[in-house]
Amino acid sequence: MNHQSFAPQIAIRLINVKKHFKDRDVEALGGVDLEIAQGEFITLIGPSGSGKSTLLELLGDIGDEGGPSEGEILIGEKTPQELRRARGYGIVFQDSTLFPWYRVFENCLLPFRISRSEGSKQEQVKRIELLLEMVGLDRKFWSYYPKELSGGMQQRVAIVRALALDPPLLLMDEPFGALDDLTRKSMQMLLLDIWSKTKKTILMVTHSISEACFMSDRVVVLSHRPGRIVRIVSIPLDRPRERSMTETKAFARICGMVREALGSGGGLEEDASIKD
Ligand SMILES: Nc1ncnc2c1ncn2[C@@H]1O[C@H](COP(=O)(O)OP(=O)(O)OP(=O)(O)O)[C@@H](O)[C@H]1O
Ligand SMILES: [Mg+2]
Repeated sequence: MNHQSFAPQIAIRLINVKKHFKDRDVEALGGVDLEIAQGEFITLIGPSGSGKSTLLELLGDIGDEGGPSEGEILIGEKTPQELRRARGYGIVFQDSTLFPWYRVFENCLLPFRISRSEGSKQEQVKRIELLLEMVGLDRKFWSYYPKELSGGMQQRVAIVRALALDPPLLLMDEPFGALDDLTRKSMQMLLLDIWSKTKKTILMVTHSISEACFMSDRVVVLSHRPGRIVRIVSIPLDRPRERSMTETKAFARICGMVREALGSGGGLEEDASIKD
């Protein structure tokens, strides 16, 4: 038997990644080392300005001023540039960033058009139908324009668009940050469900300690700028996660560990954006 097959495959490797923005002379990331396994659900939390979005942008090769100032990023065997060219990731932002002049279904088909995908139109339509059903968006909304949808529905569409080309990696920058509490909780359950069905690797930024602890396998805590990892908290809760788990003492203890790490990383006192 090949014992190596039990070793988790590394999906992402960050080696001493630093980012200095020259135009504003800002040290955004101060040396980040991290390995993420295939299929892991990782959340990134840290004070405002600790470089969370910068890190996602570096992974997606969409940042200003090119790649890291120092260090190396590998996603599987690919550099971020190669990953982007291979359409190897989907990305979701706080704002759904849907095109207002396209209907829901057309928005979801866009990745196929942009990548000049070779599959048949029929297959593409079928894939989008499947995904829209998976995120639970009622058929009647498929022909609506984005502004006719609630914030939660728009984020469902944004998730569908991110998954359209079936990339192995999902990057999410505060995807539920603009939603009310109830919608946010139902979107958390939805994303966990999608994750378990699709086996994607997910790297998600959040400002919510409980969201981070409830959803992820590991919570990566960044320090005040320049962002460095102050602690990685492994979440020992069973899968599938159930809401009742958040009522337990174990959960409170885990959240406490993350809160403490945030405190030790500095810059938290004046940061009202971090929520329990
Ligand atoms: N394109 C850019 N040019 C110059 N400075 C930048 C650029 N992008 C980000 N920065 C700076 O880098 C630092 C990190 O920014 P970043 O947006 O990554 O933080 P963040 O952790 O995502 O914060 P927040 O929680 O508020 O979203 C900030 O000081 C920011 O001003
Ligand atoms: Mg950000």
